[in-house]
Amino acid sequence: MTKEEFTVLRDFIYEKTGIYFTETKTYLLESRLTNRLSELGLGSFEDYYYHLKYGADKARNELARLYDVITTNETSFFRNPPQLDAFKIIMQKSYMNGASAGSPIRIWSAACSTGEEPYTLAIMLMEMAEIHRVSIPFNIIATDISSKVLESARKAVFSQYSVRNTDEAIKRKYFTEENSMYKLKESVKKNVKIDFMNLMDDDAYRLYRQMDFIFCRNVLIYFDEKMKKKVVDHMYECLKPRGFLTIGHAESLHNISRAFKPLVFPGTIAYQKG
Ligand SMILES: C[S@@+](CC[C@H](N)C(=O)[O-])C[C@H]1O[C@@H](n2cnc3c(N)ncnc32)[C@H](O)[C@@H]1O
Repeated sequence: MTKEEFTVLRDFIYEKTGIYFTETKTYLLESRLTNRLSELGLGSFEDYYYHLKYGADKARNELARLYDVITTNETSFFRNPPQLDAFKIIMQKSYMNGASAGSPIRIWSAACSTGEEPYTLAIMLMEMAEIHRVSIPFNIIATDISSKVLESARKAVFSQYSVRNTDEAIKRKYFTEENSMYKLKESVKKNVKIDFMNLMDDDAYRLYRQMDFIFCRNVLIYFDEKMKKKVVDHMYECLKPRGFLTIGHAESLHNISRAFKPLVFPGTIAYQKG
């Protein structure tokens, strides 16, 4: 990949997805796109760029393939326990004492990857309801930019690696084990709606309003400050008053937003709409 090819592709990807590849990542981008070139029978990265930018219908499909290959989709069930503990505490304090006044709790897992995050939240709420012998109506909406991971989330069949941090009792209760794979039960799946959503698309946010809780973990890390601000400002608008935002443990709202009130929990911070 020449320097010029890298620059035009990097800018194109940034404009469409917010993901910014620094020059040190030239090799990474090249290796992720090489298969696309050979599948399309294209001779250079420049041809690939023109195909994406000016191609007709086929190029629109190629945009989806591009999103699949340039995104990093690492995730797992029960990832980052301190954040989940904070979620549990907040749910117990704010909602189980009737604060949500009978209307279902609305949760958005933005950048959900293959679904482990939203399904973890669904399992946690189902467990809470059972332990406290109450009904907890909730809706979880899970979105991502990669159609490939969304398809996988809909299938909801997971590897041992995905469930490596999942309690044995939870595995037995909510999954069926088949050939070393873990198939999530319908009772959990039915609580999670899976949709395509590009966090760069300003208009798309109107579909995700009145949220009690937004999980936006481990995606801001791929954006520059301008795109982080844009996403976080939208998320603020998408929350109900006093709703919560959780970002990845390596991410911070420092220099990004002052609108949220940071609430400190053991090992983590949750951001509350002021
Ligand atoms: C590392 S995964 C995080 C998964 C999960 N939130 C977690 O923390 O375990 C990052 C996800 O962000 C998605 N992503 C990247 N850019 C995006 C964008 N502009 N809009 C929506 N999703 C995006 C990727 O496709 C990927 O699945």
